[in-house]
Amino acid sequence: MISRRTKIVATLGPASSSPEVLEKMILAGLDVARLNFSHGGPDEHRARAQLVRDIAAKHGRFVALLGDLQGPKIRIAKFANKRIELAEGDSFRFSVTHPRDAGTQEVVGIDYPDLVKDCAIGDELLLDDGRVVMRVDNATADELHCTVLIGGPLSDNKGINRRGGGLTAPALTAKDKADIKLAADMNLDYLAVSFPRDAADMELARRLRDEAGSNAWLIAKIERAEAVADDEALDGLIRASDGVMVARGDLGVEIGDAELVGIQKKIILHARRNNKVVITATQMMESMIQNPMPTRAEVSDVANAVLDYTDAVMLSAESAAGEYPVEAIKAMARVCCGAEKHPTSIKSGHRLGQRFERSDESTALAAMYTANHFPGVKAIISLTESGYTPLIMSRIRSSVPIFAFSPHRETQARVAMFRGVQTIPFDPAALPADKVSQAAVDELLQRNIVSIGDWVILTKGDTYHGTGGTNTMKILRVGDSLA
Ligand code: G6P
Ligand code: MG
Repeated sequence: MISRRTKIVATLGPASSSPEVLEKMILAGLDVARLNFSHGGPDEHRARAQLVRDIAAKHGRFVALLGDLQGPKIRIAKFANKRIELAEGDSFRFSVTHPRDAGTQEVVGIDYPDLVKDCAIGDELLLDDGRVVMRVDNATADELHCTVLIGGPLSDNKGINRRGGGLTAPALTAKDKADIKLAADMNLDYLAVSFPRDAADMELARRLRDEAGSNAWLIAKIERAEAVADDEALDGLIRASDGVMVARGDLGVEIGDAELVGIQKKIILHARRNNKVVITATQMMESMIQNPMPTRAEVSDVANAVLDYTDAVMLSAESAAGEYPVEAIKAMARVCCGAEKHPTSIKSGHRLGQRFERSDESTALAAMYTANHFPGVKAIISLTESGYTPLIMSRIRSSVPIFAFSPHRETQARVAMFRGVQTIPFDPAALPADKVSQAAVDELLQRNIVSIGDWVILTKGDTYHGTGGTNTMKILRVGDSLA
């Protein structure tokens, strides 16, 4: 029985595509496999998804699949000699007309014509995730003239951000639109939208998702300065999504690394308050790309996100392209379990003094209050259609495991992302109404999750189908004859 509550998302790539490695990753605790649509073609993604599903099924594990759209990452074009070296004080130009494959020591092409319009004199541009920094000195109709503030190597197709955000590229590109269709076709469980500016970007993504016939939950990647400019902007984006990702790479570049930790805590808190899932991502165990052990700073970073009560922590290059994908998952799992022992991971002060908006929410939170204050309770069973009831429950800090009982494959996979939630396939509609409680508790008993004499909480609605109907909480004693 897995006792870890915080979930692990790992990006698949060349380092993690063989059945052997993937199997080890799943056995080490992979909960959500991320397919990065910025790299690789449709056939590669399909093959990886199939492999994940086959291996998970073989071991009776539930692993969700998340597709991550590339989005409008703005990149420079190519250099004639692949790479240049810039020194502090050098002059450099970005040109919308310069040939795409012939960058020099002085100038490189760029595919985003609005860059010139979006930038003003004095702005700072960050290349390659902030490794090279330039100041804009002058702008013509098709070129930005800059001075290098921090030098370093610059190579083909590196990303470019503006300090403080404000680049106007729309969130969904033609490639993203095609990838939404691919995600629908692959039955992905989650779809992450890159660089959304506001709720409208997420609403557009939702429309396209619906048109494509997908029911993947939409994750807004919080990675633009505008998205965290004030509470209204952040909450608007959160509410328009099913979950969010603290996408610390681009976000850190746009807002500066000094503020990143505070903003991470705020995003996690706001997501949970709004009943949404939240993933903390980027460079969590970066040194494990080359080393079998994380650094103390990385251990501290993962633990800190767990203490912030993130649903999931994420691996990027560590699992996609690194030398130690399996070790990285094991290290994360170990650190999560350790941090979950800390009292702040268990005691909830969540939403005291706040109002609830819905009856199912009220029932779910009443269940958590009881679970946290009645020591005999060893498990919570939530009969769920969509995963929504256990999602609300898992916004509350607790050490009591939450079991999402659902007959639907999509729901069984989806809840793999929720902190503290595991799934058990179960169809209440297939049973006479007076046998449901007994059958549900027996499932836990058979798996040795509970013993005779333990208490279990069960939530459900009046009918055994349809989402949003939860209105009942039962407190059941294992071993009693239950109706
Ligand atoms: C299942 C239960 C119902 C409950 C519903 C809640 O269908 O049998 O009694 O009302 O789940 O689903 P939700 O998607 O809101 O968690
Ligand atoms: Mg990003």
